[in-house]
Formats: sequence, C-alpha cells, structure tokens
Amino acid sequence: MTTPSDWTSRKVRETFLSYFEEKGHRRVASSSLVPAEDPTLLFTNAGMNQFKDVFLGRETRPYVRAASAQKCVRAGGKHNDLDNVGYTARHHTFFEMLGNFSFGDYFKEEAIAFAWELVTDRYGFDPKRLWATVYTDDDEAAKLWERYLPAARVLRFGEKDNFWSMGDTGPCGPCSELHVDQGPHVPGDATPNGRGDRVMEIWNLVFMQYERDAEGKMTPLPKPSVDTGAGLERITALLTGKNNNFDTDLFTPLIHKIEAISGKTYRGGMAEEDAPFRVIADHLRAATMLMADGVMPANTGRGYVLRRILRRAARYGRRLGIEGPELCGLVEPVFSVFEGVYFGDPHRTLKNEVWELVRSEERSFAKTMSAGADRVGEAITEARRKEETSLTGKTVFRFYDTYGIPLELIEELAQDEGMAVDRAGFEKELEEARERSKGASKF
Ligand code: GLY
Repeated sequence: MTTPSDWTSRKVRETFLSYFEEKGHRRVASSSLVPAEDPTLLFTNAGMNQFKDVFLGRETRPYVRAASAQKCVRAGGKHNDLDNVGYTARHHTFFEMLGNFSFGDYFKEEAIAFAWELVTDRYGFDPKRLWATVYTDDDEAAKLWERYLPAARVLRFGEKDNFWSMGDTGPCGPCSELHVDQGPHVPGDATPNGRGDRVMEIWNLVFMQYERDAEGKMTPLPKPSVDTGAGLERITALLTGKNNNFDTDLFTPLIHKIEAISGKTYRGGMAEEDAPFRVIADHLRAATMLMADGVMPANTGRGYVLRRILRRAARYGRRLGIEGPELCGLVEPVFSVFEGVYFGDPHRTLKNEVWELVRSEERSFAKTMSAGADRVGEAITEARRKEETSLTGKTVFRFYDTYGIPLELIEELAQDEGMAVDRAGFEKELEEARERSKGASKF
C-alpha cells in the first residue's frame, strides 16, 4: 500500500479508471450536469444517468462494460443534500462519482470481486476495517462477500439503505455497500449506517434489475446489470488520512482562497464555527460547475436551484464579513482543481464568463439583501413592540411575494434576532396565492 501522503484526488480517480480499463471496461467521459433529454431529472445525480436507456434496453452501445468519473449535483429532487452541507464531513452539492457499469454482462460475482480487489489491493485499505451491507433478502450477495469478509461483517438492511433508484421512476435494484471503519478516534458507531462518521460508506454496488414506473410497478429489465457509485471525495479523504472531505486537495485551494478574501483563518477538522468556509467552498464548486455546463441563474427550475446555492453561499459569506462580490474569486481555483479532468484547454473564455455571472449574481443579491434586511428588521422591531415572538405567515409572505426576499433569508435574519417565523402560516398563504392565480388563469 502507498503511504497516505502519496495519494491525491487525481491519483484516486486515475487508479479507479485504469483498474477498470484493465478489466475490459470502456473509459467514458463524464456527461454534463444538465441531463440530456431527461425531464425526470433536475441535475445529473449519479454515474449511471448517461446510461439509463442502455440499462432499460432502449439503446445499445459498442461496449458492455464501462467506467467513468461523473460530475454530479444533489440539490433538489430525489437525492437532495443541500441542507446538510457544511455541517457534516461528507455531504456535498457537487461531487464526483466513480463508477463501473455492466450492461447485461457481468453481475454480482464479478462486481463484488472487482470492488474487493480495487479497494484492498490497489487502494490498499486494510480488509480488517471493511464491512459490507446487502439488501434484506440478498443471500447471493451476502455469500459472495463472505468469500472475503467474516460473516459477522456482512450486514443486511432494508429498502432505505440497500435499494437504489435513480428517481421516482426509472432503473433500480437492490444494492450492496462497502464501508470503512476509520477507528475509534472518529466519533460515531462502530458499525455501518449508525450515528456519526466513524464507519463511512465508500462504494455502492447496485444490482440493476427493475424499471419502476409512475405507479410504482416494477418490471424486470431485459438483462440484470451493474451500476456502481463510489464518492471520490471520501476515498481521497480516507487515503490521505483525513477524516473529512474538506481537508483534501479537492477543497483546500478553495478554503485558502476564502481565507485570503475574508482575512479569517480556517482551523481544519469540523469546528462548527467554520461551517461558512465549508458551505462557501462546496457551493462555489457546484455553482461554477453548473454554470460551466450552461445553467444560468433564474427564478424557476435548474436556474433557481443554482440561484439558491449561490445565495446560500453569499449568506454564509456575510458571516465571515464578506459583503461585496468577492466569492467570484473562487471560480479560478475551482477551474484549476478540475483542469485536465473536466476542463480541457483553452477554457479561459468559459472561466471569465462564469466569473462574470457569479459576480453579477452576488451584486444583485447584495441589493436584495440590504433592502430585505431593512424591511425584515423593521418588521422584527414592530413584532417585538407588540411582544410577539414570531413573524406571522402574512408578513413573511408579503416580503416574499411583494419584495422577492427569499424565505431562507427571512428565516435567517429573524433567527439572528431571536425571532421565529411562522412557516406553516407562510405555506398557507403561498397555497392560497397559488389557488388564486389558478382561478385567475381560468378567465
Ligand atoms: N448509482 C449508484 C449510486 O449513486 O450510489
């Protein structure tokens, strides 16, 4: 095994892809973060998305084995990690998924054998630190893991943990995960799917067998297939001896840039006070990569999620004293981290365009923010005067609807002043407004 200091994210990615090339897989480039012609999907959320129709038997390719490093975003839709970001060691909006795929070629036996060899022999994880999990009734997968692991380290879980589907409809199947125990120095349970980060899932092997339709009916796929997903950030963290993804080379250049912009120091580890650094680094990675794939900030759909990500970053920026349009300074290091991986040369024009877009979004948010902060501030003073402890749904809805102040922003400003927000009341107002506009459109 190489020593922790030999590993870099580039080496982890390359080791994965060349291992599977050796095993007869075609190396396929990442697809765009904007799924091609798939209205069921907000953003590309897994390596298998670009192969969805191949699994469903609607498309054939000149190969039956593939491997990729895929750009993914999970923010909105079925897999949504947005609200956890910054407070855990391993949630991201943008992340890279390493995957190998079999289109009706090999199935469970080879998928498990490949995963085991790569993880223990090429990456050099100590087999004594590994656990596998399988779907409740998947005796076949359990038996296969028992070739490598003691039976006590092969556990069974239900649908929530060990059944994977791309979305509400589409290809799906039981899955089997590999987990690594980082040891007692990391807080958390000593078994998979428990509390804390001590035992960390690193690889999900999906045994694609069904297509689920809108009614939930499952039809067997033409051929059982394999779809796997391993988070590059986690594997890099583990191999470099870090217990959180933000301390890897994928993030440190961004964190250094935030330190330079804010004049504040990041302590490393997972100190809660440092969450703004992690949120900003994560969100600027996501925003840069989304914009580089052509997503523009907007008030609906993908563009709205992008806008929310950028605005969340800007709000956290304010906690570090960053008020001007300075987060655009992170576009450059994001491009450098992915140079030669997702960006070929020359990409200068693209980088400048993304930089301009981030800057202009930051500027317009700063305007909303100061106007919003004033209005919300007045409402808070008024509520206090009346000895109320929360802003009413009506008030919040007025800010949202008339002045375009995002709900999260109102909540955050209120929270800073120790004031609650009547969210249920707000939702009711929103629903009523929707009904009114439906009625109006009938005429
Ligand atoms: N498609 C496998 C995964 O996302 O875990």
